Amino acid sequence: MLCKTILIVDDENLIRWSLKQELAKIGFTIFEAENIKQAYSLFQEKDPDVIILDQVLPDGTGIDLLTEIKLQNSFTPIIMLTAVDRSQTAVQAMKLGAFDYVTKPVNMEELIVVLEKACESTHLKRQVAHFIKSQQKTCGFYGLLGSSPPMKQVCEQISKIAQSSGTTVLLTGESGTGKELAAKAIHLRSERREKPLILVNFSALTETLVESELFGHERGAFTDARIQKKGIFEISDGGTILLDEIGDISQKIQVKLLRVLEQKTFQRVGGTSDISVDVRIIAATNQPLERLVREGKFRSDLYYRLNVATILLPPLRERGEDILLLADYFLNEFNISFHKNFKGLSEDTKKMFLNYEWPGNVRELRNVVERAVLMDDGEYIFSHHVELGHIHSLRREKSELAFDLDSGGHSLDSIEKQILIKALEKTNQNQSQAAKILKISRDTLRYRMKKHHLL
Ligand SMILES: Nc1ncnc2c1ncn2[C@@H]1O[C@H](COP(=O)(O)OP(=O)(O)OP(=O)(O)O)[C@@H](O)[C@H]1O
Ligand SMILES: [Mg+2]
Repeated sequence: MLCKTILIVDDENLIRWSLKQELAKIGFTIFEAENIKQAYSLFQEKDPDVIILDQVLPDGTGIDLLTEIKLQNSFTPIIMLTAVDRSQTAVQAMKLGAFDYVTKPVNMEELIVVLEKACESTHLKRQVAHFIKSQQKTCGFYGLLGSSPPMKQVCEQISKIAQSSGTTVLLTGESGTGKELAAKAIHLRSERREKPLILVNFSALTETLVESELFGHERGAFTDARIQKKGIFEISDGGTILLDEIGDISQKIQVKLLRVLEQKTFQRVGGTSDISVDVRIIAATNQPLERLVREGKFRSDLYYRLNVATILLPPLRERGEDILLLADYFLNEFNISFHKNFKGLSEDTKKMFLNYEWPGNVRELRNVVERAVLMDDGEYIFSHHVELGHIHSLRREKSELAFDLDSGGHSLDSIEKQILIKALEKTNQNQSQAAKILKISRDTLRYRMKKHHLL
């Protein structure tokens, strides 16, 4: 086994004793705790490889300890012990980051299988973290990976800008290039890290909502305003606000924002007194603001106010080997979530990844790896496991299959048949692949092929 020490946290002596007997036999060193306080100090002192944690303890719940440990960014996997009728809590624990759960009375064989998996996954996580750190392939520990020259430059800009904690920042870059992550990195590296970072996504809000969300409102300012409400600017005083998709804001809000940026004061909706705040504004956009300014959709004065320190997140296709680094990282992440054991990408997949355009950037890469890990088993991700440009190729497919409904129309059946034929052609008659493209199971595909006499 890849780990040696286990901390067992349970208030029942008998359970601790019997688990200890069994696990010591296979060579584990066991630490025992009967309450959260003891458990937490043993966790800090001994740094066990795995924790087995009961749900109900005299001084709190297993969830309390789990949360505390996860807050420390610890890799230590936690296996919950749970009574059969308490599976809801177990599910909650999994959501909070528990590795797995085992029901009581404990079946030793089951527990050992779970332990093996837990040890393997931590081992992998530790290795990757160590590797990444040793290669200096991250912008600090805020999740922005990359060692390509354009990414190194981004990292340098982030650390410089983080230090001048009043400077407004404009993050630009295509969709999925990591603008939100960069904003988090800037906030967490700045003096403002203890204060809130609040994200406002303009593409998701209507104009009236934006105004009262940002600036708050006085009681009675509009029909629904029954009580006074503080807006984001007030709540995040001392912290950072990320104004996401800034290209989408209306002229009216542009004027108000300009005023906050210039004077650092604003008024609540329906209010008359000025409120002053100290916040750093980070604006993000994947639309070229210069163009919007030229087209008269974005105020030039606001643009100049925002464009003080600009960071351009490079598209993934210009980041060379970062593609493989990120792919490995995501592979490891999804190995853990889906309990798989992929070791890496095959050589042909690497080539394919390096030559692909990645229109959806890192987000697309993450999704592609997730799908490949989920759908297949084995040691390497081969190119035929991977679907690149899934959305794009389907879109193209749609226009090729131009059905002319006006000229007498088609039966749904005949359209289905044509789509099946297309999918099979596209995959060289590979049924599993064709089924994947059509998002149906292989059995369904075969059933429909039979129906259309294609089999
Ligand atoms: N350099 C990176 N290292 C690790 N993960 C990354 C990196 N860049 C992006 N990601 C991941 O890619 C996904 C998209 O990133 P993010 O949401 O920050 O992009 P974005 O630029 O804000 O996109 P959009 O313009 O669509 O809002 C997230 O899951 C993020 O964790
Ligand atoms: Mg974003």
